[in-house]
Amino acid sequence: MAKQIIVGVCAGISAYKSAELVRLLCKADYTVHVVMTKSAVKFIAPLTFEALTGHRVYTHLFESQHPSAMDHIELARWAQSILIAPATADFIARLRCGIADDLLSTLCLATTAPIILAPAMNQKMWSNPATQDNIQSIQQRGIRLIGPGIGDQACGDTGPGRMVEPQQILDQLSDADAADNLLTKRRVLITAGPTREPIDPVRYISNHSSGKMGYALAHAAINAGAKVTLVSGPVAISSPQTATTIQVQTAKQMHDAVMGHISCQDIYIGCAAVSDYSPAQVSTTKLKKNADTLTVILNKTQDIVRAVASSHADVFCVGFAAETNDLEHYAREKLRDKQLDMIIANQVGIADGGFSSDNNAASVLWNNGQQTFSLRSKKRLAVDIIKIIAQHYYASKHTT
Ligand code: C5P
Repeated sequence: MAKQIIVGVCAGISAYKSAELVRLLCKADYTVHVVMTKSAVKFIAPLTFEALTGHRVYTHLFESQHPSAMDHIELARWAQSILIAPATADFIARLRCGIADDLLSTLCLATTAPIILAPAMNQKMWSNPATQDNIQSIQQRGIRLIGPGIGDQACGDTGPGRMVEPQQILDQLSDADAADNLLTKRRVLITAGPTREPIDPVRYISNHSSGKMGYALAHAAINAGAKVTLVSGPVAISSPQTATTIQVQTAKQMHDAVMGHISCQDIYIGCAAVSDYSPAQVSTTKLKKNADTLTVILNKTQDIVRAVASSHADVFCVGFAAETNDLEHYAREKLRDKQLDMIIANQVGIADGGFSSDNNAASVLWNNGQQTFSLRSKKRLAVDIIKIIAQHYYASKHTT
């Protein structure tokens, strides 16, 4: 079925590439309506897009007096996705703030369709903290990014900020479309972040987990159509808008939240770095440093992923193994020992990748196979992991 897509064109030099992008989309059976910002028409004529799409091009908010025109609400309803290429720094800032002072920004507010941006701007504008902050904020709302690429720029600079080439945008769009419905009507419970085990009212035992991987998995599962419950330890990331998020502190609270929500789930992904031990006694007052040594007795916490796997055989159960050495050996041992369906092994304690980094590499292991993903952004890795989990989840349903 042809997909109904709005291509938004902002005022950037790479608007010339949008013509090729629109041509490729039409060739790939998309029905395309083009919406241009008022300054974009200075870079490329609307007539070019009209000739390519066979439809009139929209440039103003109020032009529904035209016989073939839809108004902005109709257009927003019609769109199955909105792709903005090029997306300028200014447009991204307006999108972040929810400003609706032209047709394209109004459509973005009025639509429930996925919004995808292909940013294009000078490398300094891209790296500016204001732009990076805007990007982070819109990504947390579920807006997806394709690019930007790194390389020579029209202004003579070199760096990140080039609009990705039209064919690559189309390829990534098709990949996303295929992944979009992968987990429709499935329920996925994900744990993320560290836990904190209190010693006294001011001190606790914890670890370096940032929650980035677990939250990226939650976003990827939502984008794949799943209904996501996220049980999160304390992290500095905002919750995905469309997930049910349960905030916890301790391993015991995480265990109770998971066990309280597991029975209606199809897939469990234990990505949290759960404390293995917790102080046997929590002092109600701040401990004093009178003695030269202090002994804190720790009790083992309940292994949540093991509890899920052993009590809910119908839930496809995925664990994580973060190791500093003998990664695959330990991961396979955990896969077997905890009776998991799949385990994601990743190396910690390396220069890039691991706990707080935005990047990670991982090996995904199951009973009689494995696949390795080289270093990439955690967001990209999450999409790859969700795809492979979905594949194996459906395969397991055919064999049971
Ligand atoms: O045994 P280890 O802690 O290395 O295993 C890691 C996996 O087990 C992760 O999926 C983690 O979320 C899970 N885990 C758990 N409950 C614990 C400890 C770890 O679910 N108490």
